[in-house]
Amino acid sequence: MDDLREEYLKLIAEAGDESGLEALRVQILGKKGELSLRMRELGGMTPEERQTAGPKLNALKDEINSAFASRKAGLADAALENRLRDEWLDVTLPPRARREGSIHPVSQVTEEVTAIFADMGFAVAEGPQIETDFYNFDALNMPANHPARAEMDTFYMSRREGDNRPPHVLRTHTSPVQIRSMEAQGAPIRVIAPGRVYRADYDQTHTPMFHQVEGLAVDRDIDMANLKWTLEEFFSAFFGTRVETRFRASHFPFTEPSAEVDIQCSWDGGQVRVGEGDDWLEVLGSGMVHPKVLRAAGVDPAEWRGFAFGMGIDRIAMLKYGIPDLRAFFDSDLRWLRHYGFSPLDRPTVHAG
Ligand code: PHE
Repeated sequence: MDDLREEYLKLIAEAGDESGLEALRVQILGKKGELSLRMRELGGMTPEERQTAGPKLNALKDEINSAFASRKAGLADAALENRLRDEWLDVTLPPRARREGSIHPVSQVTEEVTAIFADMGFAVAEGPQIETDFYNFDALNMPANHPARAEMDTFYMSRREGDNRPPHVLRTHTSPVQIRSMEAQGAPIRVIAPGRVYRADYDQTHTPMFHQVEGLAVDRDIDMANLKWTLEEFFSAFFGTRVETRFRASHFPFTEPSAEVDIQCSWDGGQVRVGEGDDWLEVLGSGMVHPKVLRAAGVDPAEWRGFAFGMGIDRIAMLKYGIPDLRAFFDSDLRWLRHYGFSPLDRPTVHAG
């Protein structure tokens, strides 16, 4: 029995890992293990033999058991030590360089425009880009066969054959949001509606998709002077310099009277500068909301009146940030985006002091 003890203790001490140790445990102490067989042999002994062999065997079993336990704990500690030594990480190393994305000039300018009008009490409204021809045309005083419809280069959604309802259109302007917001909110109301609009047109200053921001203010005593003040206030805040505007009489079916608005600029060496010089650049259409439009949106023109305007966001982005070609805005060319985009962490704000 002393030999067995020596041998077992040696084997346990030599076990190199936890799975080897477990195999050894099964071999010695398992149901068919050597020590278990010895225990079973006790049954065949004489009572005297059993009296001396029994306690010895039990003591041996206890000793072997606890040798296993402490070896197991020792191996686990050693394994942990090894991991702690091997699996280290230098958290002070600089990270691998990753390219930062950039804010598109249209997003940047949309936020600037929104912030400025928010300061003047305008909320932001939205409407769908796929519009019914009612909202895009009829409610804006452009009934079917009105010539202005033809001038808009409208994209029509196709209808299934036999479906004779009027087609939906890709909205040609943000003006339908005037109707939708008055329907939803009634008067008085003061909203802007930035978003995408679509016209079948493509050259250096036109893309089939572009961005407008609509403005609408309806109250009891609004007039053109409020429109002019609001726009000059806006342009001066946006361009960071006093900007003169020029109102040219114009025509839109949904405003009466109507005006196209130019902002003051200079052309020096092909470079346009806003707020100086004696040239003019057209940036928006505007006017007093036509009574028929108010009525179509459920607002009583005998009680309420208002102004509206629609301005090209891409256009004023080009002017403010010196971007020459509109088409490049939507090419998704990474070099262009990195050049003209804004760092998310360091972008101009209209509130920066
Ligand atoms: N919707 C007009 C356009 O896209 C602009 C406009 C808006 C004019 C509101 C007057 C009033 O050209």
